[in-house]
Amino acid sequence: MKDQRQTPLLDALKEHIQAEKWSFHTPGHKGGRGAWTPLKDMLGADVFRYDLTETGRLDDLAMPTGVIAQAEELAADLYGVCRTFFLVQGSTVGVLAMLMAASSTGGRVVLERSIHRSAVAGLILSGMRPVFIGTGKSVDAGIIDQMLSEEPAQAVFLVRPDYRGRCIDLKEIARTCREHATLLLVDEAHGPHLGFHPQLPKSAVEWADVVVQSPHKLAGSLTQSAWLHVIRDEKLAERIARALCILQTSSPSYLLLASLDAARAQLATEGKKLLDSALRKSQEMRAAVKRVPGFSCLQEGDFDPLKIVILTHECTGYQLAEAMEQRGIYPESAQDDAVVLNVTWGDSDFSVGELEEALQSVRGSRSPRVMQMPCPALAMTPRDAFLSAHELCELQYAAGRVSADVVTPYPPGIPALVPGEIIDREIIEYIAWIVGSGHRVEGLIGGRLRVVMDRG
Ligand SMILES: Cc1ncc(COP(=O)(O)O)c(C=O)c1O
Repeated sequence: MKDQRQTPLLDALKEHIQAEKWSFHTPGHKGGRGAWTPLKDMLGADVFRYDLTETGRLDDLAMPTGVIAQAEELAADLYGVCRTFFLVQGSTVGVLAMLMAASSTGGRVVLERSIHRSAVAGLILSGMRPVFIGTGKSVDAGIIDQMLSEEPAQAVFLVRPDYRGRCIDLKEIARTCREHATLLLVDEAHGPHLGFHPQLPKSAVEWADVVVQSPHKLAGSLTQSAWLHVIRDEKLAERIARALCILQTSSPSYLLLASLDAARAQLATEGKKLLDSALRKSQEMRAAVKRVPGFSCLQEGDFDPLKIVILTHECTGYQLAEAMEQRGIYPESAQDDAVVLNVTWGDSDFSVGELEEALQSVRGSRSPRVMQMPCPALAMTPRDAFLSAHELCELQYAAGRVSADVVTPYPPGIPALVPGEIIDREIIEYIAWIVGSGHRVEGLIGGRLRVVMDRG
């Protein structure tokens, strides 16, 4: 393994600001000299000094040959993969790139239905025809073999860990994909730390062809930074590079890039020790939840113990989230039946007493209601539907129409409708239920949906 204490990007940034007296390039705030004082006072002067983009010897994100290439090589070495790409537009851009790189005109991709909306955007951009593994079905090698045997696909796209920390077993799925000469693409946005401690599940890099991770979510990099690993296929890596070249900004933030270099060095040199402390805190928090009647923690199969899913048996997750927020404790997300907490080594000072207090305060108030998200049938590809002429239609009159948009209720943040799907009674009821519970539905405009214009 390479010397993982190296930080080529951090070093290059420091050298640059020492060498540069005057900047006649972007950004316009010129190292902070032109920044608005209240913002500078709030963020500190160093943020502006280091807020640079491609200049001097700082390399080129789209075609790296210098310090970015060195930093990416160190990350690839750490994860044991052939190529790692640094991303400045989150795992979102990685998902777009992997779907574009895997696609061919008229291609097909098998996906689980609980995807992030970036995967829907990837379908729109790539033009791929999705075939969803229906909601409520377990995602395993058997079902994937059946679907690939019925009709070949360019790729299988899975999310692991899922929103509740569950990690599906990829070993057999990967074997099935190989037998069908199908790429296995994994959205591991929530799993950059996996594999760095014996008590954690292994990372999907062990089995998949392409894996995207957001170290900003569960490791130490800055929000919006991410990386994508291509495991062994150099030609596939070239296709990903080509897609990223047109998808990513031409002014990447070196704050984000340097933070990826730092997060990699931190995971490599201190990861095990830091994860020890995070796991201890998570255990302590789980024990606290167990002590309060009416609550339990989800603990099914292989799961990430650093994602604590508090199941609320006698109240709703929203009620618990509110009680927590009143005490200054902000969860990752809340659903009708649960609250999800992300724990990292940054939480070592958290006092579980405060969590217990919040749990005690909401006992026995109301029962959660859970509704399974339906999986509507597809009438046309997401790309064709998104680009077609469309009109607005009241939700209650939309049955039988084809969605032209991605419709995503928050929570849970999983698209309920993908462009091209036929709006049926069941999905109308589901969306109405979310709205009735007082939640936000992205893609619902004043109670109306964008639907494909009828040709007749
Ligand atoms: C499963 C999953 N995939 C992808 C993403 C997108 O990641 P990012 O926010 O880094 O773009 C998210 C974000 O919440 C996610 O939960």
